[in-house]
Amino acid sequence: MPESMILATSLEELRQARALLDNPLGLVPTMGFLHPGHISLVERARAECASVGVSIFVNPTQFGPNEDLDKYPRNLEQDLKLLEAAGADLVWMPTPDIVYPPGYQTWVDVEGLTSLLEGAMRPGHFRGVTTVVAKLFNVFQPQRAYFGQKDAQQAAVLRRMTCDLDFPVDVIICPTMREADGLAMSSRNAYLNPDERRAATVLFRALSAAKAAHASGERNADNLRQVMTETIQAEPLAKLQYVSCADYDTLEELQTVEGKALLSMAVYLGKTRLIDNFVIGD
Ligand SMILES: Nc1ncnc2c1ncn2[C@@H]1O[C@H](COP(=O)(O)OP(=O)(O)OP(=O)(O)O)[C@@H](O)[C@H]1O
Ligand SMILES: [Mg+2]
Repeated sequence: MPESMILATSLEELRQARALLDNPLGLVPTMGFLHPGHISLVERARAECASVGVSIFVNPTQFGPNEDLDKYPRNLEQDLKLLEAAGADLVWMPTPDIVYPPGYQTWVDVEGLTSLLEGAMRPGHFRGVTTVVAKLFNVFQPQRAYFGQKDAQQAAVLRRMTCDLDFPVDVIICPTMREADGLAMSSRNAYLNPDERRAATVLFRALSAAKAAHASGERNADNLRQVMTETIQAEPLAKLQYVSCADYDTLEELQTVEGKALLSMAVYLGKTRLIDNFVIGD
């Protein structure tokens, strides 16, 4: 392990630094503005791998034309302090031009899974995610890659891509880190004003209510979706985009919950769009 964290910007710098790191290397892709959720991934990689690589890249191709690319929060100095403290060995901070140079025209697209849920609401989002992660796998050559369960569909899509494209990478999904009141940590929480921040616990409350209903024996998926919808609608500052009670593997909406299911939702608090999910059943 190198004595201090290596910072790379160009592809050449990254490749040279990577070649000196021991295997297995664990990769943690991020868009920066790091919070304890991200750090939990770095710590897990640190515990399980000989070396740890992190990318900080606000990937323009995963943002829609009316999304928040221009105002996405950034704090590189703070991010680097947190990563150094968490024991990262190598941090890549490319510019968009490095990842997508002039003339760029190659895309990785997972079909099927990406037509549902987040993919249905954010056309092109997952194409941007899978393309950038495929490139990160190529340049970092990691043996393991760490992602958060908060982005449940992203986890499913990246598992699919890794398998379908024969990347020799173990995809490891880590639990969602939450604030004390249940709000899932997210860089986008920084957009919330104090009233919206208080109201934002509604996602956790809705998921908890549906989980409790399931624990009491409710197996009708419409009823579980209804429990979540009613909780969201009772919060004046919240606007529901979708709720879902889907098969854990296929992400197709269920009629009856038999095995493992994914409860998920997207909710607007003002202009800020938040997502969260619980896994229920076995
Ligand atoms: N609360 C969390 N707990 C665990 N992992 C998380 C959490 N939030 C994000 N992650 C994971 O961190 C990785 C990088 O995510 P990203 O940089 O998009 O952060 P983010 O907080 O999800 O930001 P945003 O909400 O703006 O998308 C992803 O694998 C994501 O699933
Ligand atoms: Mg994210």
